[in-house]
Amino acid sequence: DWTMAAFKDQAIAAIRKQVGDGKVICGLSGGVDSSVVAVLIHEAIGDQLTCVYVDNGLMRTGESEQVVRVFRDKYNIPLIHADASEQFLGELEGVDDPETKRKIIGRIFIEVFDAEAGKVGGAEFLAQGTLYPDVIESVSFAGGPSVTIKSHHNVGGLPDRMNLKLVEPLRELFKDEVRDLGRELGMASELVDRHPFPGPGLAIRVPGAISRERLEILRKADVIYLDEIRKAGLYDEIWQAFAVLLPVRTVGVMGDNRTYDYVCALRAVTSTDGMTADYYPFSHEFLGRVSTRIINEVIGINRVVYDTTSKPPGTIEWE
Ligand code: XMP
Repeated sequence: DWTMAAFKDQAIAAIRKQVGDGKVICGLSGGVDSSVVAVLIHEAIGDQLTCVYVDNGLMRTGESEQVVRVFRDKYNIPLIHADASEQFLGELEGVDDPETKRKIIGRIFIEVFDAEAGKVGGAEFLAQGTLYPDVIESVSFAGGPSVTIKSHHNVGGLPDRMNLKLVEPLRELFKDEVRDLGRELGMASELVDRHPFPGPGLAIRVPGAISRERLEILRKADVIYLDEIRKAGLYDEIWQAFAVLLPVRTVGVMGDNRTYDYVCALRAVTSTDGMTADYYPFSHEFLGRVSTRIINEVIGINRVVYDTTSKPPGTIEWE
């Protein structure tokens, strides 16, 4: 795509001009936006870039390891892996209010990121994967009274506090363009075509009180669900798909025994920007297969339901 090739060259030139021989810090989340920012900036200024990955213990199975493997080992980008999962999980234990969860996660993220970034001596710049829709949204919020439905957690406040200048090379792009840019940079589909994943991670997919046990049960169901979606060749047709572990137990029967375990809700939506969404119309056969696997393989879940709510009036996440 010639347009994106031109955009890439311009963006690289602009980054070099802005940064000069200064050092840049980039928070990696494992998601598409921060990954593309990191690879783009690395292409522009090489080892003047250091990435910081704050591991909050709220990722899906295997994802933290994947971030480290891809960026440190494959791209050779200097990467600090700050494993703060104990602190996050400790402070979240028993917390049930969604906004409180987000606030705790946002605060610890900033503390940890700030401390780690401080160890990169002399950094002047902070890179962020801000997209065009984020720019519009924050302008309209600033322009008058508005209702924030969910306080999306990003590194707001961080640049001022750390005295860093922002580098935001994706500010003019929409999500699908970010993906095109990633492909233009030669990035693998496993990175570029990933579903979006929220900053607060699995914390907002365990409605009600968070516990390590609930997170573990959720991870097991989620990995089965995503595995079946990939095997059926449906991953790229879906905007986001994930399991939610409900804080409700229901009665079931397994062999000769009565069970009393949690309900797992499955969510999958199509969307172009996350602002509106429709539920994904899986076949009944697919849903039956996933339900059977989850109930048979995950101890702690004995019932699976499928969420057929569109956005609006629902949101994509349950919290
Ligand atoms: P909702 O649930 O509001 O989500 O329909 C729209 C998109 O935003 C993601 N999301 C978040 N992302 N921090 C994030 O970084 C958050 O607190 C957060 N809440 C929702 C959600 O996964 C979807 O892509």
